[in-house]
Amino acid sequence: MAFPTAFLDELTARNPIEEVVGQYVSLSRKGSNLFGLCPFHSEKTGSFSVQPEKGIYYCFGCHKGGGVIQFAMEIENLDFPDAVRWLAKRAGMEVPEDNTRREGYHRQERLRELCREAARFFHAQLSTDGAKAAREYLAKRQVSGAIVKRFGLGFSPNAWTGLIDAMKAKGYNEQELLTAGLAVRHPTKGTIYDRFRNRLMFPIIDVRGNVIGFGGRVLDDSTPKYLNSSETPIFNKRKNLFALNYAKKTKEEMLILTEGYMDAISLHQFGFDCAVASLGTALTEEHANLLSKYTQKVILTYDGDEAGQNATRRAAPILEKAGLSVRILKMQGAKDPDEFLKKYGPDAFRGLLNNSENRAQYLLGAMQRKYDLTQDDQKVAFLKEAASFLAGLPNAVERELYTIRAAEAAGISPTALKTEVEKNFRRRRAEQKKREEKKNLEVANSRQPDERALRYANLRSAVAEEGLLRLLLREPELFTQVQLTPEHFSVPLFGRVFAIWRTQFEQGRSVGIAALGESFAREEIAHLSGVIQKEQTLVSETALKDYVGVIREEYEKTQVSAEDRLRQAHERMREKHYGG
Ligand code: GTP
Ligand code: MN
Repeated sequence: MAFPTAFLDELTARNPIEEVVGQYVSLSRKGSNLFGLCPFHSEKTGSFSVQPEKGIYYCFGCHKGGGVIQFAMEIENLDFPDAVRWLAKRAGMEVPEDNTRREGYHRQERLRELCREAARFFHAQLSTDGAKAAREYLAKRQVSGAIVKRFGLGFSPNAWTGLIDAMKAKGYNEQELLTAGLAVRHPTKGTIYDRFRNRLMFPIIDVRGNVIGFGGRVLDDSTPKYLNSSETPIFNKRKNLFALNYAKKTKEEMLILTEGYMDAISLHQFGFDCAVASLGTALTEEHANLLSKYTQKVILTYDGDEAGQNATRRAAPILEKAGLSVRILKMQGAKDPDEFLKKYGPDAFRGLLNNSENRAQYLLGAMQRKYDLTQDDQKVAFLKEAASFLAGLPNAVERELYTIRAAEAAGISPTALKTEVEKNFRRRRAEQKKREEKKNLEVANSRQPDERALRYANLRSAVAEEGLLRLLLREPELFTQVQLTPEHFSVPLFGRVFAIWRTQFEQGRSVGIAALGESFAREEIAHLSGVIQKEQTLVSETALKDYVGVIREEYEKTQVSAEDRLRQAHERMREKHYGG
């Protein structure tokens, strides 16, 4: 069940898009629109636009767009119903919840509360007699009392139903404990037992401050060393980062990405409050997008071992794709940031940060170490690999600089290597140009939406449909003159939008993105925003006739069925033979 449309209308009216966006983006006026730096990708010139009259935002750079609800979803990481609740709270409105929706929301709220209660329980356990070993372990690792408190670290007792009993006493049932990933059902006995036993507990908290899961570390050398909550309706490892709830408030201009919980915690303890850790999984695109909401620059500080270096090579391009500038810390004299800080202190670590390398330096360094540069044949092999890599650097200054560095490393003069790099570069550019020319030839493609699923089958009709929707949005009264049904539209998305807007108009409601609610995919709303943000320059009356004309014409073409066509051909032939 959806929220009542009248409620959504009021919700959007009372949350003007320029105000809501203005809380996150500094906007300046250009004509009737507002512009600013896109909060969803990193950029230096503003390609993010807000059109208050249409109630939409649209980024010309990353093509994200929508109404105020979609903006709340995107920026606060909420699903549709939660974004609605968030906006309602902002405007001091009451949300009309239907029963199934209320139940779903209620169930998730219960899970969040259960996780919070569990965190409280684990934390309190830390001061009990049974947690002596855990306290000693924390002391051994030099974790301060303040940090234990700040991160809510805890201890899961060495028992089978310690947490389960405590949570049952608070009114939670077995199913909820299982769903929250805190209990496991025994496969044969059918009873349930605590997932985390005799472990140091790290609560995982999302950016909104909810406890959503846990990591638990053994106190000795047994395995598995770390155990994480399983995936639950509120816990997704691919979308969350440890300590981001604190790091997002940092004054530093960067975020430090580490491999382990203990690394992030140590960094915070030593004053680097910008550290976050992934949750024992490889970095995902979702992580990168999440990071890019809070910073422009990420420093990778994975372990110096091979696994850590492989992870670095995989993570760097993912972060760059999200628009982040990436630097890679060269770990020396310790295996990870935690060990380094304890050995050499925060000043030395700051030095490592300042000496961190960009991807070109890092990869070139790694390449260099692969070869024995005292041997001539290895030198040649290194220079060949380096030339091909250097030619791929898009920035001319960088290309020149690192060419010189590589030549120096191999102990040759830069001239020969420069020639080689330029040759490689020109070849690459020629290939690229060919590709682009080929693409430009497919003119029609340039008007096609990015999303494959939204490809236009009939471009002529689609362009008219776009124009018609823009017109109707600007002047909804024109609905009285449009004798079309949704079936006339060649783009199903536009047909659906048309139907909803017409109903809205007939019921005297406002027509716009807000009316579309949650029955549309994010890509669909973004595409639609891109369509309606364009200027509608044509004069209404004539444009309307033209658009409707084209849509009808194209529609009728599809209605001439194969059978009809065959029959017509037949008749024409007969006339030729026997007629006249
Ligand atoms: P400490 O020994 O406590 O300092 O941990 P570390 O952070 O140095 O550990 P390591 O580099 O071995 O692991 C980094 C991260 O990988 C941890 O923080 C965990 O998130 C994850 N991890 C490590 N071991 C395991 C494991 O056995 N199982 C799972 N699921 N995750 C693990
Ligand atoms: Mn460690």
